[in-house]
Amino acid sequence: MSDLYIHEYLLCINDLIAHKSVQSMRSYTQHGDTNCLAHSLYVSYYSYLISIKLQSFLKVDPRSIARGALLHDFFLYDWHEKSNRKGLHGFTHPKTALENATLHFQLNAIEKDIIIKHMWPLTPAPPKFFASFLVSMVDKYISTLEIFSIYPSKKNLISALVPCTSSRLL
Ligand SMILES: [Fe+2]
Ligand SMILES: [Fe+2]
Repeated sequence: MSDLYIHEYLLCINDLIAHKSVQSMRSYTQHGDTNCLAHSLYVSYYSYLISIKLQSFLKVDPRSIARGALLHDFFLYDWHEKSNRKGLHGFTHPKTALENATLHFQLNAIEKDIIIKHMWPLTPAPPKFFASFLVSMVDKYISTLEIFSIYPSKKNLISALVPCTSSRLL
C-alpha cells in the first residue's frame, strides 16, 4: 500500500481525527471485521488520493473531500443492533451523520453534500458536486471489499494513516 500524500492528507483531517466523537466510531462495527472509523478513513484517504490525481483537469477540493468523506458515516451507533430507530439504516443514516457532524464541526457546502448524498442512488437526491459522486463511488467500492474481506493491507494503511492510534483501530 502506498503512503502517497499521507502527511498532506493528515493535515486535512487532523482536527477531526483528534475529536473524541470521531474516535468513538472505532467502537462500532461497519462491515465484516472493519470498524466504522477504519472504514471512514479508507473511504476518505482513497477519495482524497483520487481527487489529487484529478486535480490537473478537474476543479476539485481534496481537503473538503477528505473531511466530508471522513464524516460520511458519522451516525454513531451499531447499525447491526436492533433499536427503536425509525426507518431503515441505509436510508436514514446520511441524515443522522450530517446532524452529528454539524453539531461538532463547521462544514462547508461540499462536505455537507458528501455526507448527505453518499448513499445515492439508494437515497434519490443526486450529488450536487462531483466530490459527492466520487465519495459515493469510493464508499461502495471499499464497502464491497470489506464485506468480502478482500482488503489487502489494512494494518499497514491504518498504521500509516493514524500512527498514534493504530493499535486501537484494529
Ligand atoms: Fe454510509
Ligand atoms: Fe460508508
